[in-house]
Amino acid sequence: MAELNGKRLVLGVTGGIAAYKAAELARLFVKDGAEVHAVLTRSGAQFVTPVTFQALTGRLAWCDQWDARMPDNMAHIELSRAADAIVVAPASADFLAKLAHGLADDLLSTLCLARDCPLIVAPAMNRQMWENPATQRNISQLAEDGVIVLGPASGEQACGETGLGRMLEAADIHDAVTGFFQPKVLAGCRLMLTAGPTFEALDAVRGLTNLSSGKMGFALARAARDAGASVTLVSGPVTQPTPAGVTRVDVTSAQEMHAAVMQRVAACDIFIGVAAVADYRPAEPGQEKIKKEDKSLQITLIPNPDILAEVAARPNAPFSVGFAAESRDLEKYAEGKRQKKKLALVVGNLVKDGLGGDSNTVILFDDQGRHPLGPAAKIEIARGIVAHIGALLAGNGGV
Ligand code: C5P
Repeated sequence: MAELNGKRLVLGVTGGIAAYKAAELARLFVKDGAEVHAVLTRSGAQFVTPVTFQALTGRLAWCDQWDARMPDNMAHIELSRAADAIVVAPASADFLAKLAHGLADDLLSTLCLARDCPLIVAPAMNRQMWENPATQRNISQLAEDGVIVLGPASGEQACGETGLGRMLEAADIHDAVTGFFQPKVLAGCRLMLTAGPTFEALDAVRGLTNLSSGKMGFALARAARDAGASVTLVSGPVTQPTPAGVTRVDVTSAQEMHAAVMQRVAACDIFIGVAAVADYRPAEPGQEKIKKEDKSLQITLIPNPDILAEVAARPNAPFSVGFAAESRDLEKYAEGKRQKKKLALVVGNLVKDGLGGDSNTVILFDDQGRHPLGPAAKIEIARGIVAHIGALLAGNGGV
């Protein structure tokens, strides 16, 4: 996966203990294909050294506006000139104050002022410094100026206090920066999706479920969010972390999933059924644990509601998308499902290609025919599906 391929990023590191996380962030950016130029302030370099970033990025790291290593001695222009974004992580209270007032008294603040690209900051400071009205004023000013502010998070701080001010984790900043570069093809759309398995209780401790990991649904939630949609994710029992900014509703059984979806469906423009919903549930789940006996046990199963079919059949149905995981005859079953459930789009895959893994190979079926995607990482497949939905909604046919 190289989601940041061809992107040139300036990574600014200012003075705060969270600077140690900037090393990990540099590594994640580089691993994802970005060209990373690290610029440390004088106090940033008290916490981590330029050598750390030089080793991680494979490029010179910069600290000083008087550094003569740049041929024309204009590092402040050269570094930001071709950059796709400047990411300052951690951004200290002092540095945010400088940015808000347009000060340029060191290399990093100068190149932020001289930039022609988006500026993304991840504040990190003590809780009281964050809450101080001066910092809040500066943050509001920066947001008004179009600076993208990521976090801060709340939690334990290096100073021993607990509260708002912790820098987001490197993985979350990386996630937000990759998201930032995605085309906003679903801007303003309200999208709901289901993900994961359902669990149908058999007795007090047992139940029927399946091997769905939820990875594809969660990747789609992230891709839709990055495309500008507001996203509600109705999830069965999974261990996936919730993508930042996504509203998550946890459910267990198909009936709970059905109720959660129906309660919210009137307020959505796009619905994607990714969940592997159990087709049947035990008719009479026991309240107590079923005791072992020396005879066979009969369990009567009754059908669950088909959530997707019901959503697609509503009078003002949202743009409805289904998944078809088949073990054979993919084309026949996936297209059959699309017709039967009256869906705009079905994402078909052979179970051997997708279940539980990190990558997938799919075919999209719509009115125009079939469109293969992958093999690729699930997030790339998800971005492809979102792009296709965006194109269909815009009336230009998709991939
Ligand atoms: O009919 P089948 O289960 O193969 O269809 C799969 C698609 O329908 C998936 O998109 C799945 O999320 C959705 N579905 C549903 N409710 C069910 C069964 C499937 O929403 N009870």
